[in-house]
Amino acid sequence: MIERAYERYAIIDFPKGLPVNLTRQNVFVLIGLHPLGDNVPLDMPQNEDVRFIYDNVKKHTDWFRDSLCLIASENLVSPLARQLQVSDLTDRYAEGLPGKRYYQGNIYVDEIETRVEAIAKRLFRSPEADVRPISGTNANIAAFYALTEPGDLYAAPHLNDGAHISSAKFGAGGLRGANEITYLWDKENMNIDVDGTKKMLLEKRPKMCLFGRSVFLFPTPLKELSDTLQELGCHVWYDGAHVLGLIAGGRFQDPLREGAHIITGSTHKTLPGPQGGVILGNPRDDEQWKNIRRRVFPGTHSSHHLMTMAAKGIAFAEHIEFGSQYADRILKNARALAQALHERGFTVLGERLGFTRSHVMVLDVREQGGGASCALDLENANIISNKNLIPDDPGTSMRPSGLRLGVQELTRIGMVESNMSEVAQLMKRVLIDKEDPYKVKEDVIALKSNFQHIHFCLSKGIEAYRNWMIE
Ligand SMILES: Cc1ncc(COP(=O)(O)O)c(C=O)c1O
Repeated sequence: MIERAYERYAIIDFPKGLPVNLTRQNVFVLIGLHPLGDNVPLDMPQNEDVRFIYDNVKKHTDWFRDSLCLIASENLVSPLARQLQVSDLTDRYAEGLPGKRYYQGNIYVDEIETRVEAIAKRLFRSPEADVRPISGTNANIAAFYALTEPGDLYAAPHLNDGAHISSAKFGAGGLRGANEITYLWDKENMNIDVDGTKKMLLEKRPKMCLFGRSVFLFPTPLKELSDTLQELGCHVWYDGAHVLGLIAGGRFQDPLREGAHIITGSTHKTLPGPQGGVILGNPRDDEQWKNIRRRVFPGTHSSHHLMTMAAKGIAFAEHIEFGSQYADRILKNARALAQALHERGFTVLGERLGFTRSHVMVLDVREQGGGASCALDLENANIISNKNLIPDDPGTSMRPSGLRLGVQELTRIGMVESNMSEVAQLMKRVLIDKEDPYKVKEDVIALKSNFQHIHFCLSKGIEAYRNWMIE
């Protein structure tokens, strides 16, 4: 088994030595070969349902291997982190905090969690960190319960201006029974209208102000708003789900030093970790952070998916090494793609400020048939994106006017600025020239075939689109 494994997978290269104290045997565990011995890959049982699900996972993976993935909220997880998802931790429970658990069996889990928290604090230069939330949304639910009471007023961006659903009355805000007001918006700059918003905040006096968006083109003017926020004495919460990797890489903004008390985020968007959440804090007082902790457990989680918690630590540690390089490249690629699309006749929002300073861009595709049909045509050409609302959108969330694109995954597989022109050209052929998407797909597959390995991580040379345990 080991020999076979060695033959097949001796492609891992650790240029700086093994990342932790690993034996060769353990490297095989990390790349997913050892735990089940000779039974890897698993023999498929004669169970139709099981086969159906496995077959479709395989089809999905094959499809994504051949596709340009431009969904702004996705990424390719670190291979070392991916392997921890199938470790024994996936079978276990831990409730509470290290050293104060309700279950036995957590001796090593406590060691890991304490270390992962410490790595998170180092990565984000954050006085506090909670690595337990199982998603960005769960982190947001916990934060809503910690920072507001039913009936409280809170401020957040409007959904049309790029807010995530969890910040609105249909999401966690409404679930908490809190009442939302939205910031005034400057469409030209695709950002908060600082003067108008200051006036509005002083008039309405919300108890909490939430900043952060799913369409996060430019940094939030936190510094510019900070005198007003201080005067209000409100909780300042920054939802960095999308831009967490850029913040950690030091290439976006530094919310904890610009006035935010709490950051929530997803660990799998520009930060290429496992699907999960995190809460960081530079709290205004002990009570604020204690409330966050209590709302994570027992408020909104029981056991917190230990395999993912450990995998976050791997992704954080790798981001300490590669985060700034990766973030730099993302920003360059995003600008290059936006510019290339603009030059080919697309309406890319935020032109006045260079379209974007993050991983994401938004197109107004009303002339090309609207967000829903454009996203579908692109999908038929193996270009995966999503329809999106734009400011003052005359459409609906199912039939919006925009298209959202993110370059973090294409960057992770090694694409550079010159490749962005190729991507823009393929999009133009589908959406402006109205070529048959199924024909364009052949050229998409050809381009993608050159980009199949994960970069900016410790285990170099790992194939990006492969189900190691089931193929
Ligand atoms: C701003 C923002 N907050 C929260 C979330 C939710 O994160 P998750 O998908 O990890 O639940 C998203 C998801 O895209 C988001 O864009």
